[in-house]
Amino acid sequence: MSKQTVVVVGGCGHVGLPLGIILASRTDDEVYLLDIDASKVDQVNRGEMPFTEPGVDKLLREVIGKKAFATTSPECLRKADVVITVVGTPVDEHLNPTVNGLKANVDDILKYLRDDTLLMLRSTLYPGVTQVIFERITQLGRKIHLAFCPERIAEGKALEELVCLPQIISAFEPEALERARKLFSKITTTMIELSPLEAELAKLFTNSWRYLNFAISNEFYMLAETYGLDFYKIHHAVTHEYPRMKSFATAGLAAGPCLRKDTLQLAAFASNHFFLGHSAMLVNEGLPNFIVRELQQSVKLSEKTVAILGMAFKAESDDTRESLSYKLKHLLEVYSKKVLCTDPYVSDPALTPLKDALAEADIIVLATPHAVYREIEFAQHQVVVDCWGVFKRVDLKPQGRLKPNLLELRR
Ligand SMILES: NC(=O)c1ccc[n+]([C@@H]2O[C@H](COP(=O)([O-])OP(=O)(O)OC[C@H]3O[C@@H](n4cnc5c(N)ncnc54)[C@H](O)[C@@H]3O)[C@@H](O)[C@H]2O)c1
Repeated sequence: MSKQTVVVVGGCGHVGLPLGIILASRTDDEVYLLDIDASKVDQVNRGEMPFTEPGVDKLLREVIGKKAFATTSPECLRKADVVITVVGTPVDEHLNPTVNGLKANVDDILKYLRDDTLLMLRSTLYPGVTQVIFERITQLGRKIHLAFCPERIAEGKALEELVCLPQIISAFEPEALERARKLFSKITTTMIELSPLEAELAKLFTNSWRYLNFAISNEFYMLAETYGLDFYKIHHAVTHEYPRMKSFATAGLAAGPCLRKDTLQLAAFASNHFFLGHSAMLVNEGLPNFIVRELQQSVKLSEKTVAILGMAFKAESDDTRESLSYKLKHLLEVYSKKVLCTDPYVSDPALTPLKDALAEADIIVLATPHAVYREIEFAQHQVVVDCWGVFKRVDLKPQGRLKPNLLELRR
């Protein structure tokens, strides 16, 4: 297959970097990772990942400086056959999607592009935005082929999912669609064709569906806990050898840069009549408040030191964007004597080493279920709050030992 020059705009971020590195590693293409963050660009050019993404670090070291080049200079756009931008439509402080950043980004890119280039929008977009960009290109009289091919990987699974997941491709004209198909056929086998609006909705449905599912589990968790019942005993009972409940998630802090944002995009698109989505947001965002309220009812919180285990928004990740651990921290700082935060993946001088946090804390809240926490030996006097059910599930094993928890304390 013919060799192309591919530029990934936002190429040193969580979406752009794994995609760029995998394209450089599995194809003949030359890949430029264009990014406005000079420190990330330097890091990537030294062969270092700016964030944790298992397996991609090894590939990066193999291709960087040979087939992949990180840069802050948009000059590389002049020789591009394909440009992939990950700039998206984030929600603002009024919870509305903002499109101006992407429009400005596309205007900037277009100044450098040769006619006939394929411009691919890769971020999750507010529905209808691909059409807006298409009209902008037409208005400017440019002969650029536009495609929208949303990224669907989960952070931490890029290496496996970029080549395994079916790729949704969409465009307004056949040539753009064909060229998008050609690009992805170099790294994956299954392609699903949709119209741009369908593809925009498909991606938002994916993330909202996950967010809603987490909200169901969190709502049920809070319901059971309110009645002094063990949610995970019930969870085990209804999922064990019962196929229709297999997808019943555990409870937990449902956060991160995408799920809530994308649910809110769908809510805005539904003229704010997406009641399920809004409810899911209230439930998921309300879990830290629930934990603090339960603690207040059980112990004299103002006299207690609390350790929060995990500041990243998900397990085995160093990504703290939109992490609800920080909401929990803020609430506990108001009501408890002292809050200690710890996370083995996050480098932040304000964090406390795990050993010290465990030695000092009266109360321990598992906020992020990093695997390393599973082996912790808690002191008998310590109250452990574990909405994820990690310690409980350890206890389900015959050899497991019971750990003190909020439930026992209340009784
Ligand atoms: N993180 C995920 O797993 C994931 C999955 C699917 C979709 N998305 C969507 O992809 C988009 C990007 O997410 P991300 O997690 O990669 O964000 P990120 O912050 O990790 O990466 C974005 C990168 O783009 C750079 N950048 C921003 N504006 C730029 C510009 N004008 N020119 C060049 N570089 C620019 C930033 O410096 C950063 O390195 C988001 O809109 C998100 O909704 C993310």
